[in-house]
Amino acid sequence: MDEIMLHPTAADREFYGEGLILLEGIISEFLSCLGMMRRYQTAQGLRDPVASVQARVKSAASMRGKLARQGLPATRDSALRDVWDAAGVRLICPFAQNIDQTVALIRAIPGVEILREKDYIRHPKPNGYRSYHMILSLPLRFLGGEPHGPVWLEVQLRTIAMDCWANIEHQLKYKRDIPNQELIVQELKRCADEIASTDLSLQTIRDLIELPPGQA
Ligand code: GTP
Ligand code: MG
Repeated sequence: MDEIMLHPTAADREFYGEGLILLEGIISEFLSCLGMMRRYQTAQGLRDPVASVQARVKSAASMRGKLARQGLPATRDSALRDVWDAAGVRLICPFAQNIDQTVALIRAIPGVEILREKDYIRHPKPNGYRSYHMILSLPLRFLGGEPHGPVWLEVQLRTIAMDCWANIEHQLKYKRDIPNQELIVQELKRCADEIASTDLSLQTIRDLIELPPGQA
């Protein structure tokens, strides 16, 4: 199910000021264009490569924490210019192959500028984390070509299984005091590798099911 968290608190409004509209704007432009591309594909008889979508503007509290950790001033200008995940979208795909298909759709969005890409699927992190990350910007049509500072959007793409793993692993960061940390980290890494191999098997099964008759 899609979860679009664009319900800023008073603290978020105060911190980001009019920058909040730019952050909501880039999320909205991105989702609107990608959404129509997905619908256009399915109308042509292709499968939708995206199972669900999540989007959020980073809370003021979390942004202040990040700016402080990075030694940056706690200002909205710095939040928009120097931090690339003030606006974030997560695209959850049924199969690993759908991630490449979705990345291709994103690259085809008119006016998109891709600043950075990180492929943690072909190059997983040592803890087992897998996802495809993109930092991009888009023309904000509602500004009518008015110049504005940089607005970045972080897009994370993963399979349903990778997302499940990342959510559980994320909890570790907030529970530093649990016993057997080392064992848990080791077990999580094992699960991540098993999930990658299961994702591959599921993709193979799907390909076999979808193969034209007589070609199996
Ligand atoms: P930040 O981690 O956002 O400061 O940026 P970075 O420059 O390290 O970028 P990276 O692309 O590595 O990670 C960006 C985001 O990906 C993070 O904010 C998390 O949402 C997610 N992420 C990265 N690594 C992990 C991980 O090991 N576990 C989980 N659960 N999420 C991760
Ligand atoms: Mg982040």
